[in-house]
Amino acid sequence: MEKQIIKKISDYNEIFSLIWKELKIKGGQNALDIGVGTRAISSKEMLNKKLKVVGVDINPDCQVHSKLLGIPVHICDASFLPFKDDSYDFSLAFFSMHEIDPKKHIDVLKEMKRVSKKMVIVEPLPNTNEIGKLYDKIWQEAMNSVGKFEIYQTMDYWSTLVSRLAPKKKLQYRLKIKKSVTKANADEFCEQGIEHFKKNRVEKKYIDEMKNLTKKIKKSGMEHTDMIVIIGFFD
Ligand SMILES: C[S@@+](CC[C@H](N)C(=O)[O-])C[C@H]1O[C@@H](n2cnc3c(N)ncnc32)[C@H](O)[C@@H]1O
Repeated sequence: MEKQIIKKISDYNEIFSLIWKELKIKGGQNALDIGVGTRAISSKEMLNKKLKVVGVDINPDCQVHSKLLGIPVHICDASFLPFKDDSYDFSLAFFSMHEIDPKKHIDVLKEMKRVSKKMVIVEPLPNTNEIGKLYDKIWQEAMNSVGKFEIYQTMDYWSTLVSRLAPKKKLQYRLKIKKSVTKANADEFCEQGIEHFKKNRVEKKYIDEMKNLTKKIKKSGMEHTDMIVIIGFFD
C-alpha cells in the first residue's frame, strides 16, 4: 500500500481547509467543480475562497445553481468535458466519483487531467463496522433502484486510477472523523439520507429501512466512515 497521511478531523470544513492548503490556492484562480450536486457544497466553498468557479453535472436540476450562485453550470458528462486543455488551475470531484458509472471513472480522471493542472478527489471509504455496512447497503440499493450509482471504493482503487495518469506528485490523505453518530444526532444524520431518497423518488421501503436503522444507531451509535483525499499535481 502506498504512503498515506492519516489525519483526524472534527468536521467536513476541515477537508476544504486541507485541500486549499495543499493546492496553495489564491483568489481569482480558475476552479472546476466536477459534480456540483443539488446542494452545491463544493461550489459554495470555492466561491467563499473567491475562486472563479465553473461547475459541471449530468443532472439538469443542478442548472439552478447558475442563477443561485451566479456561476456557469454545464450540464454534461464529466467523462467528456466541453473545455480546452489546461483551462483550470484545479478540478475537484467532491463526493462525486461514487455516483459516477464506474466504467467512466478513468475517463473522468483523464478529462480532469486534460483540463486542469491539479486534480482532487474526495470520497467516502466503505464502512467496515456492522451497522455502517448496513447503512451503506441501504444507500446503495436505494439509489440503484432509481438507476443511480452509489458505490464506495477503497483507497487502493482510487489511488491506482490516479497513478495511471502519471502525476508529477500525488498526495493521499485518509481522514477520520473524531465524533461518531450518537443518540443525539442520529435523527439529523439519517434524515439527510431520507431527504435525498425522497428527492430521488426511491420506494418507501428504503425510507422505512433507513428509519429502522436510525433506531438501531440511536441504541448502539455508529462510527463515521473514513474519507480519502487524493491530490494529483500535473504541472
Ligand atoms: C453527491 S453529488 C456531489 C456533491 C457536490 N460536489 C457537493 O459538494 O454538494 C454527485 C453528483 O455527481 C453527478 N454525476 C453523476 N454522474 C455524473 C457524470 N457522468 N458526469 C457529471 N456528473 C455526474 C450527480 O448528478 C450528482 O449531482
